[in-house]
Amino acid sequence: MASPRPSLGLASGKLILAGEHSVVYDRPAIALPFTRLMARARISSIDGPSRVSSAYYEGTLDDAPDILSGMVDCIRATVDAVGHPHDHFMIQVDSTIPTGRGLGSSAAVAASAVRGIASYYGAVLSHEEEMALVRIAEVHAHGTPSGIDAEAVVATGPFRFIKGAPIIQLPVGRALHLVVADSGRKGNTRAAVEGVRCRFENDRDATEAHLDQLAVVVEDVQDALRDGDTEVLGSSMNAAQRELSAIGVSDSVLDSLISEALRSGAVGAKITGSGLGGCVVALAPDAESVAPLASALEAAGAQETWSVVVHERTVEEAP
Ligand code: MEV
Repeated sequence: MASPRPSLGLASGKLILAGEHSVVYDRPAIALPFTRLMARARISSIDGPSRVSSAYYEGTLDDAPDILSGMVDCIRATVDAVGHPHDHFMIQVDSTIPTGRGLGSSAAVAASAVRGIASYYGAVLSHEEEMALVRIAEVHAHGTPSGIDAEAVVATGPFRFIKGAPIIQLPVGRALHLVVADSGRKGNTRAAVEGVRCRFENDRDATEAHLDQLAVVVEDVQDALRDGDTEVLGSSMNAAQRELSAIGVSDSVLDSLISEALRSGAVGAKITGSGLGGCVVALAPDAESVAPLASALEAAGAQETWSVVVHERTVEEAP
């Protein structure tokens, strides 16, 4: 058989607008793709055992270090799913998504590999198959992923997510302007999720109440997105942040970036992703306020900032 042509698989970063952590406990959440940051996997033909090339490792799949075992399992399962042998390909992964910042790096890298391999072998995977394959890497990275990151890194716009259910695309009534600020510190999703689990087990009633409140916020965020209502969206993000602080996933550095965002004109700000390090997301009142807000966050110590426009969009009603 002639060697297949080189192929690319792409996936983006992700932002969670509301419902991180509570989503693990079967509450709804809202997320969106963060397409300014991308992961890319290039698959090409080589002789002999398959190899992987990434920022962390360059060598055969067989000899990959433990840190990559989730990716390696995901790659092997994908090759199995498309019915090909494990040899004779090179997978080169590069990503502009900083790791450990709550921006979906691990899911995006896995999704790019799954998509690249499927495309290389001319296979078409269903969305469910793709999600199940990405989940293999996510379980290694996080332990008990809800699946929201895997959905977000291949999504086309904001969506509502409940664990185990198909996503629902959300309409956006007016373009919204977000600024994402990186604290520069790595978070650890597994540790943050375990911390919330500990609270849940030790103080179940209080923790349930916070999770329920986060679910209420998600409804408000969904309505505010639909109505293009910046004020309500901002106050809902602030309400989410109060609940996230109460369940112990914010910290003093994230809190001070959030305070700075609010002092500098943001109408709402919160952590995004698992917290305890990572990023905050702030909502600017309008496009003109984005640059001063980003500058203020950088002056306050953000390692990097990105502006994100959530474009106005209509979504077909389900029949
Ligand atoms: C991580 O991006 C989001 C969390 O809710 C974990 C998960 O949903 O798997 C913290």
